[in-house]
Amino acid sequence: TKGAAMVTAVASRVQAQRKQIDKVLASFQLTREQLLGVRDKMRAELEYGLKKQTHALATVKMLPTYVYGMPDGTEKGKFLALDLGGTNFRVLLVKIRRRSVRMYNKIFAIPLEIMQGTGEELFDHIVQCIADFLDYMGLKGAQLPLGFTFSFPCRQTCIDKGTLVGWTKGFKATDCEGEDVVDMLRDAIKRRNEFDLDIVAIVNDTVGTMMTCGYEDPRCEIGLIAGTGSNVCYMEDMRNIELVDGDEGRMCINTEWGGFGDNGCIDDIRTKYDKEVDEGSLNAGKQRYEKMTSGMYLGEIVRRILIDLTRQGLLFRGQISERLRTRGIFETRFLSQIESDRLALLQVRRILQQLGLDSTCEDSIVVKEVCGAVSRRAAQMCGAGMAAIVEKRREDQGLQHFKVTVGVDGTLYKLHPHFSRILQETVKELAPQCDVTFMLSEDGSGKGAALITAVAKRLQQPQKD
Ligand code: GLC
Repeated sequence: TKGAAMVTAVASRVQAQRKQIDKVLASFQLTREQLLGVRDKMRAELEYGLKKQTHALATVKMLPTYVYGMPDGTEKGKFLALDLGGTNFRVLLVKIRRRSVRMYNKIFAIPLEIMQGTGEELFDHIVQCIADFLDYMGLKGAQLPLGFTFSFPCRQTCIDKGTLVGWTKGFKATDCEGEDVVDMLRDAIKRRNEFDLDIVAIVNDTVGTMMTCGYEDPRCEIGLIAGTGSNVCYMEDMRNIELVDGDEGRMCINTEWGGFGDNGCIDDIRTKYDKEVDEGSLNAGKQRYEKMTSGMYLGEIVRRILIDLTRQGLLFRGQISERLRTRGIFETRFLSQIESDRLALLQVRRILQQLGLDSTCEDSIVVKEVCGAVSRRAAQMCGAGMAAIVEKRREDQGLQHFKVTVGVDGTLYKLHPHFSRILQETVKELAPQCDVTFMLSEDGSGKGAALITAVAKRLQQPQKD
């Protein structure tokens, strides 16, 4: 009959649509072989970065940090710390005394026009925030040592000098690349001519995170950030760091692994959505691995997929709303909420509603699946990268088994309901001879910068007994 024919027609259309959706989702599913490929290529890039001959061309920059070891618990004093480059810009006062750390901090906004204005404007703004904070804390006249957590790639020749290699994430201030950011901060302080600060250390957020965890767990020798950006640092044997003289002991290396893939070596697993996100970013062609694994970009990948599915008539009744065309609407916290297991579909719809997206129940199922596919791939790729690091360290030390702790921070790791679990499962799978414990760092950027500053300060001064 006519009715039955219509039902069959609808059913087969639904089936065909499902196939189209599954095809898109499948492009985000990585096989074990592909993940092993990511691990092995990452391993090769780590070695290139360390070697003099290949360093200049390496995509994983392997930057020496001039941090030689962990705090030993004797650190003490009052420090200022700045934290620039994560979700928030913060100024902190950190008091360390007999292994206890107390912190006071204030969050400041950095307006987009300052993030992407001139370098002078950016640093003037930072100094303005420091002034506000000192006022607020009643510390105007104090001359405190300062540790600067600056979460971008910097070429260092000592602990208190760092030349910005290139901006990443959402920053693009002019006249900073190739400049020493510590000098830029000092100049801005001078321009204001209101207070004096002793800038003792410039620190990557990964290093601060490793230090903070290392303060409590001596097995911690790796720091991971899975947040707005993605990066790792770890303690490397001096003899393997060809860029720095000396063969004794170890030094922390900031890998800047976000640049992995910039030579095209993972293009086989990048989808057209990844390419769109890259092309629409502030640094097209750069940080390709970061753009597949970190909070700043996952929502963007999701958005591009949703646009494509809508265009194919598979979502939102085929209507691409103005909202869906808006960059950056899917922040990490929204992705995390959408993927939460405790959330009923009706609540997913409510979140989409908040984002200005009108969805049916079927739409909300698809959106959730898309988010899941994108964040799962991110966690797996991050795990494959981590497997490369721990395997390298195991082999370097000639160990059958290697037990190590990784200090972790970042909104993606902390807020997302599945990211951390999938990351850990992947590391286990791809580095079976390593026993890796992930330790959440409590405010690594601030505390870590202060600890590093304390150690640097102690080493600056002639030792008195
Ligand atoms: C970006 C930065 C890197 C930082 C990471 C996490 O990858 O280049 O320095 O550690 O984001 O914030």
